[in-house]
Amino acid sequence: MPNGYEMCWLDYKKHCDVDKNELSKWFSYICLFDPTDEFQVVKEELAIFVTDFLGFRPRFFKVFPKQGRHVLIGKLSDLPVEVNLDEQLSEEGFVLKYVKKQDAEFVIITGISAAGVLYGTFEFINRVRVGEDLRKLNVVSNPKIKLRFLNHWDNLDGTIERGYAGKSIFFSNNKILLNQRTKDYTRLIASIGINSVVINNVNVRHAALKLIEPAYLKRLSQLAQLFQRYGIKLFLSVSFASPIHLGGLDTADPLDERVKKWWKEKVKQIYDYIPNFGGFLIKADSEFNPGPHMYGRTQADGANMLAEALEPFGGLVIWRAFVYNCQQDWRDYKIDRAKAAYDIFKPLDGQFADNVAIQIKYGPMDFQIREPVSPLFGGMEKTNQILELQITQEYTGQQIHLCYLGTMWKEILDFDTFSKGNNSFVKRIIDGTLYGRKNNGIAGVANIGDDPNWTSHDLAQANLWTFGKLAWDPDEDVKKIVEEWIKLTFGDDELVVRNISYMLLNSREVYESYTTPFGLGWMVNPGHHYGPNPEGYEYSHWGTYHRANWEAIGVDRTSRGTGFTLQYHEPWRSIYDDIHKCPEELLLFFHRVPYNFKMKNGKTLLQNIYDLHFEGVEKVQEFIKLWDELEGKIDAVRFSRVKKKLQLQLEHAIEWRDVINTYFYRRTGIKDEKGRKIYP
Ligand code: GCU
Repeated sequence: MPNGYEMCWLDYKKHCDVDKNELSKWFSYICLFDPTDEFQVVKEELAIFVTDFLGFRPRFFKVFPKQGRHVLIGKLSDLPVEVNLDEQLSEEGFVLKYVKKQDAEFVIITGISAAGVLYGTFEFINRVRVGEDLRKLNVVSNPKIKLRFLNHWDNLDGTIERGYAGKSIFFSNNKILLNQRTKDYTRLIASIGINSVVINNVNVRHAALKLIEPAYLKRLSQLAQLFQRYGIKLFLSVSFASPIHLGGLDTADPLDERVKKWWKEKVKQIYDYIPNFGGFLIKADSEFNPGPHMYGRTQADGANMLAEALEPFGGLVIWRAFVYNCQQDWRDYKIDRAKAAYDIFKPLDGQFADNVAIQIKYGPMDFQIREPVSPLFGGMEKTNQILELQITQEYTGQQIHLCYLGTMWKEILDFDTFSKGNNSFVKRIIDGTLYGRKNNGIAGVANIGDDPNWTSHDLAQANLWTFGKLAWDPDEDVKKIVEEWIKLTFGDDELVVRNISYMLLNSREVYESYTTPFGLGWMVNPGHHYGPNPEGYEYSHWGTYHRANWEAIGVDRTSRGTGFTLQYHEPWRSIYDDIHKCPEELLLFFHRVPYNFKMKNGKTLLQNIYDLHFEGVEKVQEFIKLWDELEGKIDAVRFSRVKKKLQLQLEHAIEWRDVINTYFYRRTGIKDEKGRKIYP
């Protein structure tokens, strides 16, 4: 750990069982065709790799060799050999291919752009590390999703909203950090194909308001240059009220000419400093952030005004759909927060400019362990859309609990909205193929901070890795993604791969079972959102209720209740509307259900709740057992770090189990059929 932190899956010293002598033969002579000098970072990466992995410094040549084994790198148009492609290559795509020419053998890394070649280089390195036969290399890979975003919720004072892995790597004491770690961060995320990054919190307050002022722009331009070398664009979260805060205007009304002018000048200034600036991310009219509603204007009025300012420079407006009334009265049974995004945005479909994309949280509420997929995805055909996921584990165990999210994300991506008949999957909306839109994407709220392992829980690195992999290819198999990550991170010992993949792939259901199963959500402590509190959000203004009484629990969101189910296309509308057809894992999201309701397994709802809580804790015990089996196979530091996390998880899972079971027992007076300990 020369710099005080580790490099996750990019630690090239860690490796699988491969024949290094054989491999060395390919790397002693690397041919790099780089007439425009764009491949500095490719060279650097390969140099780090070969040095750390094979133990010598590679040399780079421009001369085409006539014999021997070589790695050959360059843009497709610059390569001295012809590469026949089985598939068309897109701008960011890459090719890895074995070619034999007379007495020489080559593994070729190529693409149309420098970014493509860089992605190819990372993929090539991964394949070498897991021992793939280089003579069989024949890969054409194009990212399916255009905008692959990380959203950091970092504040300028160095804190991170919903951050569980230390302090910000971007900011400290209201200053922008630019150091070796920034570079290594950039390598890490480029290696998983991220091409867009928002570095600051969506809640833009205090010093962050000034990020778009020259005092910060200068330094930001250096950061943007670093990003650019790795194919990444810098975006910023900005306040909709910037014209007031920074411009001295008395309004931020998007239709006011002075406001429009102010933004146009501001955007021009930003591009003067940062010619490749990506654009703005905006949280408007949400949780006390200003927005167009304050002036009686629509979300489209607000977004389009900014889009007009950004358009001449090719910039984008990423406008969040997380707009709802957070000053609700819990006594009011008619208003339903779950309906808000659709009610507000659906009528605006078709009104947003082409360089606006609406960023939609995966569920209608807020990143709970289980929610239905937001109906807004199937609701807007004429609007660019970005799926927003939370990599940081706000409601999913805060990087203390093991909770691998790839399985959940896969379900979301594979969800069929039926908006254009069968196969109208979310992944086909955000890859642009379903509605033929151009600026779509996927965004993950980052889970990293300045902890030595970046994510606090070592196994939470798998979430970051998976996010990138699914963003590149949402059709990819999660099991495969996980196994590759384990091999690159911990090596390819069979038991290591087997146990860790079992733990990861089952962890979401386990977490769900001892916390809030059946789509219940929210039984957390207010504010920090950690640990059980069955009524923590019950009598609050956030719109997050379960309304448990002595006989039933859940909100009736059917056509007979709040009408939320009506926002879905058929057949979902009818399925969700019917208590007997609704997928049971979402039962309490859509229905108000008596505790004695018989579920498909013949047990009552309440007995299922009790059982899941007991079983969930047992599963955590099983995870610990599986981890213990890996002692000696994983380096001691990481072994014990994870072990500690698992022990804490067990302790906290027991707390969850006992609090939730006791809550229901006290509410209902109904005993556990199996007579296990619940507190009277
Ligand atoms: C959640 C989270 C906030 C965050 C918000 C958002 O409510 O708790 O910290 O600001 O989501 O996504 O904007």
